[in-house]
Amino acid sequence: MQNVRKITEDIVYLGCSDRKLSLFESAYPVKDGMSYNSYLLKDEKTVLFDTVDKVCAEQFYENLNYALEGRHLDYIIVQHMEPDHCALLGEVIKVHPDLKIVCSQKTVGMIKQFFDFEVDSRVQVVKEGETLNTGKHELQFLMAPMVHWPEVMVNYDKKDKILFSADAFGSFGAINGNLFDDEVDWERDCLDEARRYYTNIVGKYGLQVQMLLKKASGLDIKTICPLHGLMIRKNINLFVEKYDKWSSYTPEEDSVMIAYSSVYGGTESAVNLLASKLADKGVKKIKMFDVSITHPSFVLAEAFRYSHIVLATTTYNSGIFESMETFLHTLVAHNLQNRKYVIIQNGTWAPACGGQMKELLEKLKGTEILDDSICIKSTLKNEQIEQMDNVVNTIAKSLNL
Ligand code: FEO
Repeated sequence: MQNVRKITEDIVYLGCSDRKLSLFESAYPVKDGMSYNSYLLKDEKTVLFDTVDKVCAEQFYENLNYALEGRHLDYIIVQHMEPDHCALLGEVIKVHPDLKIVCSQKTVGMIKQFFDFEVDSRVQVVKEGETLNTGKHELQFLMAPMVHWPEVMVNYDKKDKILFSADAFGSFGAINGNLFDDEVDWERDCLDEARRYYTNIVGKYGLQVQMLLKKASGLDIKTICPLHGLMIRKNINLFVEKYDKWSSYTPEEDSVMIAYSSVYGGTESAVNLLASKLADKGVKKIKMFDVSITHPSFVLAEAFRYSHIVLATTTYNSGIFESMETFLHTLVAHNLQNRKYVIIQNGTWAPACGGQMKELLEKLKGTEILDDSICIKSTLKNEQIEQMDNVVNTIAKSLNL
Protein backbone atom coordinates (compact mmCIF):
# COMPACT_ATOMS: atom_id res chain seq x y z
CA MET A 1 0.00 0.00 0.00
CA GLN A 2 1.33 3.49 -0.89
CA ASN A 3 2.49 5.63 2.00
CA VAL A 4 3.29 9.19 0.96
CA ARG A 5 2.99 12.51 2.75
CA LYS A 6 3.03 16.06 1.51
CA ILE A 7 6.02 18.22 2.39
CA THR A 8 4.65 21.26 0.54
CA GLU A 9 1.98 21.78 -2.11
CA ASP A 10 4.24 20.41 -4.87
CA ILE A 11 6.60 18.10 -2.98
CA VAL A 12 5.83 14.70 -1.48
CA TYR A 13 7.80 12.30 0.69
CA LEU A 14 8.26 8.85 -0.85
CA GLY A 15 10.72 7.35 1.61
CA CYS A 16 10.46 4.26 3.74
CA SER A 17 11.85 2.80 6.94
CA ASP A 18 13.55 -0.44 7.87
CA ARG A 19 12.92 -1.55 11.45
CA LYS A 20 14.45 -5.01 10.97
CA LEU A 21 17.95 -3.65 10.34
CA SER A 22 20.40 -4.36 13.13
CA LEU A 23 23.55 -2.72 11.69
CA PHE A 24 23.39 0.25 9.31
CA GLU A 25 26.23 0.00 6.77
CA SER A 26 27.09 -3.29 8.52
CA ALA A 27 28.68 -1.14 11.21
CA TYR A 28 26.27 0.91 13.34
CA PRO A 29 23.56 -0.53 15.60
CA VAL A 30 20.22 1.10 14.88
CA LYS A 31 17.90 0.12 17.69
CA ASP A 32 15.16 2.41 16.34
CA GLY A 33 15.59 1.37 12.70
CA MET A 34 16.58 3.52 9.76
CA SER A 35 14.73 5.69 7.27
CA TYR A 36 15.68 6.16 3.64
CA ASN A 37 14.18 9.39 2.38
CA SER A 38 13.22 10.20 -1.18
CA TYR A 39 11.19 13.14 -2.44
CA LEU A 40 9.18 13.92 -5.55
CA LEU A 41 8.65 17.41 -6.92
CA LYS A 42 5.55 17.62 -9.08
CA ASP A 43 5.88 20.81 -11.09
CA GLU A 44 5.58 21.32 -14.87
CA LYS A 45 8.43 18.83 -14.81
CA THR A 46 8.64 15.96 -12.34
CA VAL A 47 11.82 15.55 -10.32
CA LEU A 48 12.79 12.66 -8.05
CA PHE A 49 15.40 13.35 -5.36
CA ASP A 50 17.28 10.04 -5.01
CA THR A 51 15.71 6.62 -4.51
CA VAL A 52 16.07 4.42 -1.40
CA ASP A 53 17.90 1.34 -0.17
CA LYS A 54 16.93 -1.85 -1.99
CA VAL A 55 15.45 -3.26 1.21
CA CYS A 56 12.56 -0.79 0.78
CA ALA A 57 12.13 -1.31 -2.98
CA GLU A 58 8.54 -2.55 -2.97
CA GLN A 59 7.26 0.30 -0.81
CA PHE A 60 9.20 2.86 -2.82
CA TYR A 61 7.81 1.71 -6.20
CA GLU A 62 4.28 1.82 -4.82
CA ASN A 63 4.88 5.32 -3.45
CA LEU A 64 6.43 6.60 -6.67
CA ASN A 65 3.71 5.19 -8.93
CA TYR A 66 0.99 6.57 -6.67
CA ALA A 67 2.57 10.01 -6.37
CA LEU A 68 3.26 10.35 -10.09
CA GLU A 69 -0.46 9.81 -10.88
CA GLY A 70 0.38 8.45 -14.31
CA ARG A 71 2.93 11.15 -15.17
CA HIS A 72 6.40 10.37 -16.44
CA LEU A 73 9.49 11.18 -14.50
CA ASP A 74 11.52 13.94 -16.19
CA TYR A 75 14.51 14.10 -13.85
CA ILE A 76 16.16 12.19 -11.08
CA ILE A 77 18.65 14.17 -9.03
CA VAL A 78 21.39 11.98 -7.63
CA GLN A 79 22.60 13.85 -4.58
CA HIS A 80 24.67 10.93 -3.39
CA MET A 81 25.46 7.68 -5.23
CA GLU A 82 25.75 5.53 -2.11
CA PRO A 83 23.45 2.51 -2.50
CA ASP A 84 21.36 3.35 0.57
CA HIS A 85 19.96 6.12 -1.65
CA CYS A 86 20.45 5.07 -5.24
CA ALA A 87 20.14 1.29 -5.21
CA LEU A 88 17.00 1.54 -7.35
CA LEU A 89 18.33 3.98 -9.95
CA GLY A 90 18.64 1.26 -12.61
CA GLU A 91 15.09 0.02 -12.03
CA VAL A 92 13.63 3.54 -12.13
CA ILE A 93 15.36 4.13 -15.46
CA LYS A 94 13.84 0.94 -16.89
CA VAL A 95 10.37 2.34 -16.16
CA HIS A 96 11.22 5.93 -17.18
CA PRO A 97 13.85 5.46 -19.91
CA ASP A 98 13.73 9.10 -21.06
CA LEU A 99 14.49 10.70 -17.73
CA LYS A 100 17.61 12.79 -17.24
CA ILE A 101 19.96 12.02 -14.39
CA VAL A 102 21.05 15.30 -12.83
CA CYS A 103 24.29 14.95 -10.88
CA SER A 104 27.80 16.20 -10.26
CA GLN A 105 30.64 15.19 -12.59
CA LYS A 106 32.08 12.85 -9.95
CA THR A 107 28.76 11.04 -9.70
CA VAL A 108 28.87 9.97 -13.37
CA GLY A 109 31.82 7.66 -12.83
CA MET A 110 30.25 6.22 -9.70
CA ILE A 111 26.96 5.46 -11.48
CA LYS A 112 28.99 3.52 -14.05
CA GLN A 113 30.75 1.62 -11.27
CA PHE A 114 27.47 0.53 -9.71
CA PHE A 115 25.32 0.03 -12.85
CA ASP A 116 25.61 -1.36 -16.37
CA PHE A 117 22.98 0.78 -18.13
CA GLU A 118 24.05 3.41 -20.67
CA VAL A 119 24.86 6.45 -18.56
CA ASP A 120 26.40 9.24 -20.69
CA SER A 121 23.37 9.94 -22.89
CA ARG A 122 21.14 10.23 -19.84
CA VAL A 123 23.26 12.47 -17.69
CA GLN A 124 22.95 16.20 -17.17
CA VAL A 125 26.01 17.25 -15.21
CA VAL A 126 25.57 20.30 -12.99
CA LYS A 127 28.17 22.50 -11.38
CA GLU A 128 28.28 24.63 -8.26
CA GLY A 129 25.56 27.28 -8.26
CA GLU A 130 23.83 26.12 -11.46
CA THR A 131 20.06 25.85 -11.45
CA LEU A 132 17.30 23.73 -12.94
CA ASN A 133 13.97 25.37 -13.73
CA THR A 134 11.04 22.98 -13.46
CA GLY A 135 8.17 25.46 -13.94
CA LYS A 136 7.27 27.23 -10.72
CA HIS A 137 10.35 25.90 -8.93
CA GLU A 138 14.01 26.62 -9.44
CA LEU A 139 16.49 24.18 -7.94
CA GLN A 140 20.01 25.32 -7.15
CA PHE A 141 22.90 22.87 -6.91
CA LEU A 142 25.58 23.21 -4.26
CA MET A 143 28.50 20.82 -4.10
CA ALA A 144 29.20 19.23 -0.72
CA PRO A 145 32.21 16.94 -1.30
CA MET A 146 32.94 14.49 1.53
CA VAL A 147 29.64 15.13 3.27
CA HIS A 148 29.68 12.08 3.12
CA TRP A 149 31.19 10.83 -0.18
CA PRO A 150 33.21 12.90 -2.66
CA GLU A 151 30.41 13.24 -5.23
CA VAL A 152 27.77 14.66 -2.88
CA MET A 153 25.73 17.72 -3.75
CA VAL A 154 22.79 19.32 -2.00
CA ASN A 155 19.90 21.19 -3.63
CA TYR A 156 18.01 24.29 -2.68
CA ASP A 157 14.44 24.87 -3.85
CA LYS A 158 14.11 28.62 -4.13
CA LYS A 159 10.31 28.60 -4.20
CA ASP A 160 9.57 26.51 -1.11
CA LYS A 161 12.89 27.43 0.56
CA ILE A 162 13.82 23.80 1.13
CA LEU A 163 17.36 22.54 1.49
CA PHE A 164 17.59 18.96 0.25
CA SER A 165 20.65 18.25 2.33
CA ALA A 166 21.70 14.70 1.32
CA ASP A 167 23.33 12.94 4.32
CA ALA A 168 23.84 16.24 6.15
CA PHE A 169 21.34 16.84 8.97
CA GLY A 170 20.41 13.16 8.83
CA SER A 171 19.81 10.79 11.70
CA PHE A 172 19.58 7.16 12.65
CA GLY A 173 16.05 5.98 13.39
CA ALA A 174 12.97 4.98 11.43
CA ILE A 175 10.21 7.44 10.60
CA ASN A 176 7.07 6.53 12.49
CA GLY A 177 4.32 8.54 10.81
CA ASN A 178 5.55 11.88 12.09
CA LEU A 179 7.70 13.33 9.34
CA PHE A 180 8.63 16.71 10.79
CA ASP A 181 10.65 17.69 13.84
CA ASP A 182 7.75 19.84 15.06
CA GLU A 183 5.58 16.73 15.28
CA VAL A 184 7.83 15.16 17.94
CA ASP A 185 9.96 16.30 20.88
CA TRP A 186 12.99 16.44 18.62
CA GLU A 187 15.57 17.78 21.07
CA ARG A 188 14.59 15.22 23.70
CA ASP A 189 14.01 12.20 21.47
CA CYS A 190 16.07 12.70 18.29
CA LEU A 191 19.11 14.87 18.94
CA ASP A 192 21.24 12.09 20.45
CA GLU A 193 20.77 9.84 17.43
CA ALA A 194 21.37 12.78 15.08
CA ARG A 195 24.66 13.36 16.92
CA ARG A 196 25.59 9.69 16.73
CA TYR A 197 24.75 9.67 13.03
CA TYR A 198 26.79 12.80 12.32
CA THR A 199 29.85 11.89 14.36
CA ASN A 200 30.11 8.36 13.01
CA ILE A 201 29.13 8.96 9.39
CA VAL A 202 30.53 12.42 8.65
CA GLY A 203 32.56 13.25 11.78
CA LYS A 204 35.94 12.90 10.10
CA TYR A 205 35.14 15.63 7.56
CA GLY A 206 34.61 18.65 9.79
CA LEU A 207 36.29 21.06 7.41
CA GLN A 208 34.05 20.05 4.52
CA VAL A 209 30.96 20.34 6.74
CA GLN A 210 32.07 23.83 7.75
CA MET A 211 32.23 24.72 4.05
CA LEU A 212 28.69 23.45 3.52
CA LEU A 213 27.44 25.40 6.54
CA LYS A 214 29.00 28.53 5.08
CA LYS A 215 27.16 27.98 1.79
CA ALA A 216 23.89 27.23 3.60
CA SER A 217 24.19 30.37 5.71
CA GLY A 218 23.51 32.42 2.59
CA LEU A 219 20.18 30.69 1.97
CA ASP A 220 16.77 31.41 3.44
CA ILE A 221 15.89 27.89 4.62
CA LYS A 222 12.40 27.05 5.90
CA THR A 223 12.75 23.25 5.80
CA ILE A 224 15.68 20.84 5.69
CA CYS A 225 14.94 17.56 3.92
CA PRO A 226 17.76 15.07 4.59
CA LEU A 227 18.17 11.59 3.17
CA HIS A 228 17.76 9.99 6.63
CA GLY A 229 15.61 11.00 9.56
CA LEU A 230 13.00 13.69 10.10
CA MET A 231 12.45 16.82 8.06
CA ILE A 232 13.53 19.84 10.09
CA ARG A 233 11.37 22.98 10.30
CA LYS A 234 11.33 24.03 13.94
CA ASN A 235 14.88 23.25 15.07
CA ILE A 236 16.87 24.55 12.10
CA ASN A 237 18.87 27.05 14.15
CA LEU A 238 19.58 24.56 16.93
CA PHE A 239 20.62 21.84 14.45
CA VAL A 240 22.89 24.23 12.53
CA GLU A 241 24.41 25.36 15.84
CA LYS A 242 25.10 21.72 16.75
CA TYR A 243 26.58 21.03 13.29
CA ASP A 244 28.84 24.03 13.71
CA LYS A 245 30.08 22.65 17.05
CA TRP A 246 30.49 19.07 15.85
CA SER A 247 32.27 20.04 12.65
CA SER A 248 34.62 22.45 14.41
CA TYR A 249 35.31 19.84 17.12
CA THR A 250 34.00 22.16 19.79
CA PRO A 251 32.65 20.36 22.89
CA GLU A 252 29.01 20.84 23.86
CA GLU A 253 29.60 20.03 27.53
CA ASP A 254 32.40 21.22 29.80
CA SER A 255 32.45 17.98 31.70
CA VAL A 256 34.03 14.54 31.85
CA MET A 257 33.38 11.36 29.93
CA ILE A 258 35.07 8.26 31.32
CA ALA A 259 35.61 5.36 28.93
CA TYR A 260 37.13 2.23 30.40
CA SER A 261 37.48 -1.49 30.06
CA SER A 262 38.14 -3.81 32.96
CA VAL A 263 38.82 -7.54 32.99
CA TYR A 264 38.54 -8.34 36.70
CA GLY A 265 37.15 -5.07 38.03
CA GLY A 266 40.34 -3.31 39.22
CA THR A 267 40.20 -0.60 36.56
CA GLU A 268 36.44 -0.23 36.91
CA SER A 269 36.72 0.22 40.66
CA ALA A 270 39.38 2.92 40.17
CA VAL A 271 37.29 4.92 37.66
CA ASN A 272 34.20 4.60 39.85
CA LEU A 273 36.21 6.26 42.63
CA LEU A 274 37.48 8.90 40.21
CA ALA A 275 33.92 9.67 39.08
CA SER A 276 32.71 10.09 42.66
CA LYS A 277 35.63 12.34 43.51
CA LEU A 278 34.96 14.44 40.40
CA ALA A 279 31.31 14.75 41.42
CA ASP A 280 32.43 15.83 44.92
CA LYS A 281 34.49 18.55 43.23
CA GLY A 282 31.37 19.81 41.48
CA VAL A 283 31.72 18.18 38.05
CA LYS A 284 28.21 17.61 36.71
CA LYS A 285 26.84 15.44 33.88
CA ILE A 286 29.68 12.89 34.16
CA LYS A 287 29.26 10.03 31.69
CA MET A 288 30.81 6.58 31.99
CA PHE A 289 31.05 3.81 29.41
CA ASP A 290 32.47 0.32 29.56
CA VAL A 291 33.83 0.17 26.02
CA SER A 292 33.67 -3.62 26.08
CA ILE A 293 29.91 -3.36 26.47
CA THR A 294 28.84 -0.16 24.70
CA HIS A 295 29.26 -0.01 20.93
CA PRO A 296 32.01 2.46 19.89
CA SER A 297 29.52 4.51 17.85
CA PHE A 298 27.72 5.59 21.05
CA VAL A 299 30.94 6.36 22.91
CA LEU A 300 32.31 8.33 19.95
CA ALA A 301 29.19 10.50 19.87
CA GLU A 302 29.65 11.35 23.54
CA ALA A 303 33.37 11.99 22.99
CA PHE A 304 32.36 14.67 20.45
CA ARG A 305 30.07 16.07 23.12
CA TYR A 306 32.43 16.22 26.10
CA SER A 307 35.45 18.45 26.67
CA HIS A 308 37.40 16.06 28.96
CA ILE A 309 37.90 12.36 28.36
CA VAL A 310 39.35 9.83 30.81
CA LEU A 311 40.55 6.60 29.23
CA ALA A 312 41.33 3.69 31.55
CA THR A 313 42.22 0.18 30.54
CA THR A 314 44.53 -2.71 31.08
CA THR A 315 47.55 -4.05 29.30
CA TYR A 316 46.79 -7.12 27.22
CA ASN A 317 49.25 -9.10 25.12
CA SER A 318 51.72 -6.29 25.82
CA GLY A 319 49.32 -3.85 24.17
CA ILE A 320 46.06 -2.04 24.78
CA PHE A 321 43.07 -4.16 25.79
CA GLU A 322 41.22 -4.93 22.57
CA SER A 323 37.93 -3.07 23.12
CA MET A 324 39.79 0.07 24.24
CA GLU A 325 42.15 -0.18 21.30
CA THR A 326 39.12 -0.39 18.99
CA PHE A 327 37.62 2.69 20.60
CA LEU A 328 40.90 4.60 20.31
CA HIS A 329 41.12 3.73 16.63
CA THR A 330 37.52 4.95 16.28
CA LEU A 331 38.50 8.28 17.86
CA VAL A 332 41.49 8.64 15.58
CA ALA A 333 39.60 7.55 12.45
CA HIS A 334 36.92 10.16 13.13
CA ASN A 335 39.45 12.92 13.65
CA LEU A 336 38.20 14.13 17.03
CA GLN A 337 40.23 17.22 17.88
CA ASN A 338 40.80 19.62 20.77
CA ARG A 339 40.08 17.32 23.68
CA LYS A 340 41.74 17.06 27.08
CA TYR A 341 42.59 13.54 28.21
CA VAL A 342 43.56 11.63 31.32
CA ILE A 343 45.06 8.20 30.74
CA ILE A 344 44.97 5.50 33.42
CA GLN A 345 46.75 2.24 32.75
CA ASN A 346 46.55 -1.10 34.48
CA GLY A 347 48.76 -4.17 34.20
CA THR A 348 49.28 -6.97 36.67
CA TRP A 349 52.84 -7.81 35.68
CA ALA A 350 53.99 -5.47 32.89
CA PRO A 351 51.81 -2.37 32.48
CA ALA A 352 52.57 -0.95 29.04
CA CYS A 353 49.35 0.29 27.48
CA GLY A 354 49.49 3.89 28.76
CA GLY A 355 52.26 4.99 26.42
CA GLN A 356 50.62 3.25 23.49
CA MET A 357 47.31 5.03 24.20
CA LYS A 358 49.11 8.35 24.39
CA GLU A 359 50.80 7.68 21.06
CA LEU A 360 47.44 7.08 19.38
CA LEU A 361 45.82 10.17 20.92
CA GLU A 362 48.70 12.39 19.89
CA LYS A 363 47.78 11.73 16.26
CA LEU A 364 44.78 13.99 16.87
CA LYS A 365 45.15 17.75 16.46
CA GLY A 366 44.67 19.72 19.65
CA THR A 367 45.06 16.74 21.99
CA GLU A 368 46.16 17.73 25.47
CA ILE A 369 47.15 14.98 27.90
CA LEU A 370 46.35 16.40 31.35
CA ASP A 371 47.71 13.41 33.24
CA ASP A 372 48.95 9.91 32.50
CA SER A 373 50.65 9.16 35.79
CA ILE A 374 48.26 6.64 37.35
CA CYS A 375 49.50 3.11 36.87
CA ILE A 376 47.39 0.46 38.58
CA LYS A 377 48.93 -2.91 39.25
CA SER A 378 45.83 -5.09 39.42
CA THR A 379 43.95 -2.88 41.90
CA LEU A 380 44.27 0.71 43.06
CA LYS A 381 46.01 0.90 46.45
CA ASN A 382 45.36 3.30 49.33
CA GLU A 383 48.76 4.87 48.79
CA GLN A 384 47.61 5.86 45.28
CA ILE A 385 44.57 7.83 46.53
CA GLU A 386 46.63 11.01 46.73
CA GLN A 387 47.64 10.50 43.12
CA MET A 388 43.97 10.11 42.22
CA ASP A 389 43.15 13.31 44.13
CA ASN A 390 45.82 15.13 42.15
CA VAL A 391 44.20 13.98 38.90
CA VAL A 392 40.81 15.14 40.17
CA ASN A 393 42.26 18.54 41.04
CA THR A 394 43.91 18.81 37.63
CA ILE A 395 40.63 18.07 35.86
CA ALA A 396 38.68 20.43 38.13
CA LYS A 397 41.19 23.22 37.53
CA SER A 398 40.99 22.66 33.80
CA LEU A 399 37.18 22.94 34.09
CA ASN A 400 37.56 26.16 36.09
CA LEU A 401 35.96 24.57 39.18
FE1 FEO B 1 23.09 7.75 3.63
FE2 FEO B 1 26.21 8.36 2.72
O1 FEO B 1 24.58 7.52 2.56
